[in-house]
Amino acid sequence: MKKVYIYLLSFSISVNVFAQDKKTATAELNKVKLDFAIDADGHPQYAVSYNRQPVIKPSRLGIKLLNDVGFDAHLQLIGTETTNVDELWKPVWGEVSVIRNHYQQLTVHLKQTDAPGRLMDIVFRVFEDGVGFRYEFPQQGNLRYFIVSDEVTQFSLTGDHKTFWIPGDYDSNEYKYTTSKLSGVDAFVPYKAATDIAVRVVPDQYAVQTPLMMKTAEGLYINIHEAALVNYTSMQLHVDRATYTLSVNLVPDAVGNKAYMVAPGKTPWRTIIVSDKAAEILSSKMILNLNDPSKIADPSYIKPMKFVGVWWEMQIGKSTWSYASSMADVDAAGNLKPSGKHGATTANVKHYIDFAAKNGIGGVLVEGWNEGWEEWFGNWKENVFDFTKPYPDFDVKELSQYAAAKGVKIIMHNETSGSATDYERQMDTAFRFMNKYGYPAVKTGYVGKIIPRGEHHDGQWMINHYVRVAQKAAGYRVMLDAHEPVRPTGQSRTYPNWMASEAGRGNEYNAFSTGNEPEHETIMPFTRLMGGPMDYTPGIFKIKGYSDVPSRQVHTTLAKQLALYVTMYSPLQMAADLTENYDAHMDAFQFIKDVAVDWDDTKIIEAEPGDYITTARKAKGTDNWFIGAITNQNSRKATIPLDFLDKSKKYIATIYADAGNAEWKTNPEAYQINSYVVNADTKLNIQLAKGGGAAISIKPAGADVKGIKGYR
Ligand code: NOJ
Ligand code: CA
Repeated sequence: MKKVYIYLLSFSISVNVFAQDKKTATAELNKVKLDFAIDADGHPQYAVSYNRQPVIKPSRLGIKLLNDVGFDAHLQLIGTETTNVDELWKPVWGEVSVIRNHYQQLTVHLKQTDAPGRLMDIVFRVFEDGVGFRYEFPQQGNLRYFIVSDEVTQFSLTGDHKTFWIPGDYDSNEYKYTTSKLSGVDAFVPYKAATDIAVRVVPDQYAVQTPLMMKTAEGLYINIHEAALVNYTSMQLHVDRATYTLSVNLVPDAVGNKAYMVAPGKTPWRTIIVSDKAAEILSSKMILNLNDPSKIADPSYIKPMKFVGVWWEMQIGKSTWSYASSMADVDAAGNLKPSGKHGATTANVKHYIDFAAKNGIGGVLVEGWNEGWEEWFGNWKENVFDFTKPYPDFDVKELSQYAAAKGVKIIMHNETSGSATDYERQMDTAFRFMNKYGYPAVKTGYVGKIIPRGEHHDGQWMINHYVRVAQKAAGYRVMLDAHEPVRPTGQSRTYPNWMASEAGRGNEYNAFSTGNEPEHETIMPFTRLMGGPMDYTPGIFKIKGYSDVPSRQVHTTLAKQLALYVTMYSPLQMAADLTENYDAHMDAFQFIKDVAVDWDDTKIIEAEPGDYITTARKAKGTDNWFIGAITNQNSRKATIPLDFLDKSKKYIATIYADAGNAEWKTNPEAYQINSYVVNADTKLNIQLAKGGGAAISIKPAGADVKGIKGYR
């Protein structure tokens, strides 16, 4: 009885979203419906429903212009158009090899009722899993260059949803997540607690970062983000804790303006992904679909790969990026004196190259190889680094020959210390240097306050900078992994050489701070990774005892570190630990050797943000599957039906699981490895420890099946 009542009520809300006196338009695809209306005062508004249940109640739309008549009121609806698109496209790399782009598009043409009567369109795309919309400014006589002073887009939610959030920081995403009701959002609490972040700017106590993940009391999952963030500033969301209305906060530039635009022009898409299944949020391709197709005509140089690196040893304080202990540490001739702790020495890099070559790992990241690390941190300095000058103990020529002879690629590191202007001046010479010495990829970094001074990591100037770096890298056929940039919004479709970004709190925080909670990796795919791959740097095997501070540890088990290779997708995936820690567990390292970084297919088997994720992926061009299952601080039994396997085949599944007595805090390195014969009828039941996980590799059975038991 009760059910019928709810159904009727939501139905009536759905059909009467807007009052009769408004001008309306709608678009619909399967369960998702979009209503647009313009009221008597010319305010544009929209609403979204899913399965006839309201998701976004009538909410304001519009753009305000600096010192000019804006596009947020006094607008008239002068026409609408609809189109239906259903197409398939193939990404250069990704979680699946073919993507369906299926949507109903509604364009509403609006005109200012007051002089000068300018035009603006709002384009809505309704997908099976949500809605994207953006503002477009057609070419017109009355509008050319203009400045956006505010965007009035709102998302009026239906209740006090459970929310997974980090503060709306203009410069950093490197926070732990807070789970609370919308009414409980207080960005100042994590902002003040996070003293381990280099630059933090959180002006609005009630603003949160996107992608914002929410769950309603009725069990609907809602994710709000943006897509195709180019030549605009990034969006954060101000939470009205009483009405549950989210309003767009745009990150300002150095003088307080939000975005500089030219007509014809457009904003990024605002995205609302919705489903009654959490797994469908993770498999949504809406954000990628809303980005432009690839601009890289010949992507043959773009090759997903795994890498090790001269890196974790700096993070844990075993070695340093810098050559001398400080700029003051010089000899009689005024040259820097080596401290003896420098990590990127020729001999040490050779050691990593040897390890990579021996284990079939494609790359070696080397940080701290170039001049400047003695004074990179703080003080907002302009010309700290030289991206072509190695330290005296790093022989770039010899190393590039050594790596080439062993079939290993060295990955360049360009830490800009936030001085983007300086990087732009040096970019061409830096990329020529990479070409000369055969580096196929670069990891950039933006630790510190941005130069041009007053700009923010997430403002329009830097948004354009990151894209310029991707374009420049493409010009030199170099792959890009950006640390500390704005969080991704699916641009890897357009620039597939921009393979990964950090833009979140990576595994590295376990090295030098209080770390990441066991739930962290169960939230990240629903938040940060919605916009694109993350260079999370998984694969730490020595979970405890690597730091001078005894309480520091990785907040997972070793088996969970393996599972992250599947649950946290990146086409550039690091095996982050020291080689000796891998040598001590070569049986477990086998999974990292085997796991793919590019996929034909992905199945999210079960998922709940904050609790657990189990993902299965099929390695590109093979019949091999890899599964990662992770849990938060609670132990759990993962049930994994293998019904995605080819029904006619037998397979061998190797399961890397937590040992029976494993637990992230007290016994994290205990694991067990077992192989079984399985088929499409097999259902695996795997016990995950507290903070634990399991990784599984599945290969078609050959002669090696002899002596291996069936799974039961
Ligand atoms: C922060 C990056 O996230 C880290 O990976 C890098 O090693 C340091 N900056 C130094 O650039
Ligand atoms: Ca970082």
